[in-house]
Amino acid sequence: MNELLSVTRAARLVGVTRAVLQKKIQSGEMTSFDGKVTVESLLACYPDAQLEDDAEFTRVAKIRELAFGKRVFERALPDTEVLAARLAELSKILADNQGQVSQFNNLLNRLWDKLDEIEKQVNADARLTVENLKLWIKDEVESAMEPGFSNPLAIRDNMLRVMAAQVTVLPSKHDFLVEGKDSLLEAAMRSGIPLSYGCSGGNCGLCKAKIVSGRVKKTLNHDFVISEKEKSQGYVLLCSNTAVSDVVLEAAVAGSVQDIPFQQISARVKKTDEFAGDMLLLHLQTPRTQRLRFLAGQSVTLRVGGAFAAELPIASCPCDDRNLLFHLRRQPGNLFSDYVFDRLEGNESVEVEGPQGEFILHEKSPRALYFIAFDGGFAPIKSLIEHALSLNAESIHLHWMGSNREAIYLPNVARAWADALDNFHYAEHIAGFDLRVVSAKREENLVSMLREIVGSDAELIHGDVYLAGPESAVLLAEQFFLALGLPKTRVAVAVIN
Ligand code: FES
Repeated sequence: MNELLSVTRAARLVGVTRAVLQKKIQSGEMTSFDGKVTVESLLACYPDAQLEDDAEFTRVAKIRELAFGKRVFERALPDTEVLAARLAELSKILADNQGQVSQFNNLLNRLWDKLDEIEKQVNADARLTVENLKLWIKDEVESAMEPGFSNPLAIRDNMLRVMAAQVTVLPSKHDFLVEGKDSLLEAAMRSGIPLSYGCSGGNCGLCKAKIVSGRVKKTLNHDFVISEKEKSQGYVLLCSNTAVSDVVLEAAVAGSVQDIPFQQISARVKKTDEFAGDMLLLHLQTPRTQRLRFLAGQSVTLRVGGAFAAELPIASCPCDDRNLLFHLRRQPGNLFSDYVFDRLEGNESVEVEGPQGEFILHEKSPRALYFIAFDGGFAPIKSLIEHALSLNAESIHLHWMGSNREAIYLPNVARAWADALDNFHYAEHIAGFDLRVVSAKREENLVSMLREIVGSDAELIHGDVYLAGPESAVLLAEQFFLALGLPKTRVAVAVIN
């Protein structure tokens, strides 16, 4: 087992999130070198790490995936060729280790013979010393060879190496695991890492990246041509290759909205579902070869019926770039709303343009995340939360404030997160008045509800706050948090009308 482990791998081995280990590193509780942790310090912090402890972590991971409310993640084994290559690699390490053990054995036998010789040549005092030394060596060797001496983390690490390869992205130093049959691009997206890409199908070349070390395997024949020169330099398409061994690659990671290109896509209606509170779920699917690249929390413009357009926040995670979800409130008289509620049909074409908007997660912030959704403001917040879950955020708090009970139109999604995840806290608040028109009289009510939220959690003012919903409620809430002393950079706002 390597002496140094990446934080991603170490977290997986002991069944905690990356954020938990990062906190231990920051506090000095765990030693790290160049972003990696030592096995010793990992064991010191988690002395009871046992294989059986996997159950809870697996349960949480599984529910987290289901709570995404989209495609069920495929947790299949890697394909047989990849599996065989990983086993071959581990077999080589095993053979090297066996060779070393055999060398040590020979060395031990020779040392024993030497001590026998010395014993015969020395006086009684020295003979006693040699005998004691031999006894000590014998005891030490026997206890080292006792069954059960093996480190449970080493067993788990070897298993993990068969099931998943680790990828490190330079120069950003992001890392992620490639599991199942995922391509390098899919695995990065599942981990919330926004690498550059376009079609996901080997046509556009936007996912081209350089492999610095490690072995990859082509899993998809692609039309995009990589020149012989680039091939010899290690360039591959991330959407068409998977990792056989641990890999280091050079690729650009989108750091801001400016890194995401404007796109125009003809998507199709996969389904619509009406919720309580006159809300509708619109599920669009893009063509396989033209997916929407966006950052969690962003919006797009949808055009239906050839004429009616509206800007809507995307209510799904960028990690599922083909399935785009939107929450739409019925607004009688609004042509877009009337068309979607009354005339839009399954499989109908919907033009998607964008993305736009800067209501995105501050990924580098170490602070706890506080989301406050007012009515339909849950849509962009759902996207942010799903992305935060992909990133294994340490602490997520969601307060959903509805004008009335029906305005909290998807309570089960939020409750499922809270049930499944120890680091997720959820509370519902009913205002009892229309949050879209907060009159001067109602302002005091809204402020006292916000005061209650802050009063219930002393840590909130040290966190990052994300507010989304109707303008009158959101702007009042923004003023409230700024007045509490939170800097503007820690209060993000999205107005959803
Ligand atoms: S994303 Fe288009 S070729 Fe890979």
